[in-house]
Amino acid sequence: MSEAKIAPSLLSGDFSNLEHEVGRMLEYGSDWLHVDIMDSQFVPSLTIGPIVVKAMRNHFTKEKAFFDCHLMVMNPEKWVDEFADAGANMFCFHYEATEKHMEVINRAHERGMLVSCAVKPNTPVEVLDPLVQHLDMALIMTVEPGKGGQSFRSECLPKVNYLRKRYPDLDIEVDGGLSPKTVDAASDAGANVIVAGTAVFKAENPTQVIAELRNSVLK
Ligand code: DX5
Ligand code: ZN
Repeated sequence: MSEAKIAPSLLSGDFSNLEHEVGRMLEYGSDWLHVDIMDSQFVPSLTIGPIVVKAMRNHFTKEKAFFDCHLMVMNPEKWVDEFADAGANMFCFHYEATEKHMEVINRAHERGMLVSCAVKPNTPVEVLDPLVQHLDMALIMTVEPGKGGQSFRSECLPKVNYLRKRYPDLDIEVDGGLSPKTVDAASDAGANVIVAGTAVFKAENPTQVIAELRNSVLK
């Protein structure tokens, strides 16, 4: 079984002080930092790009801070090199955003990144079957991508179950509405990488929330 990894989403953090936000999340016990990239085309919102990933990378080595970059952008093939140059550890692109899936995967691997493919709630999970053998992770969205703070959609979990049954060693990430209340359903379905924005950043005790999320995966 794959290891538990907890990835707070910086989308709920203070964008004016990302060095501090990354540093404190690491102190609280997070494994990865989830970085949400939105282009106002694939999703309505506009967030940050590789220049900001690079700015964060200047303060933390690749070993110290694992940047799990979730690209909610059209034509992700255009961005592989820039994110590699910026120091991304994981390049996660959306299945729906391109037809050049293998081009993205191969180029991202050539450039030394891990690669994940994400599916939106209405995209059937079977589209990932031909790709999984080439992927390091799959991301099952449990909200419609585009903003933090939405309600968890448990109807997406059979997709996690489908992947876990077929691919026992695959890292399977869930993103959207995860909290100590919803994580058990996701971990029971087989998710081992948990993204949480609101639940961690708005918590009174983020260390405890991160520990609770981890314990749910390990139980
Ligand atoms: C949504 C993003 C998520 C978001 C999660 O489009 O991909 O990573 O930050 O936020 P919460 O945990 O608040 O749903
Ligand atoms: Zn995300």
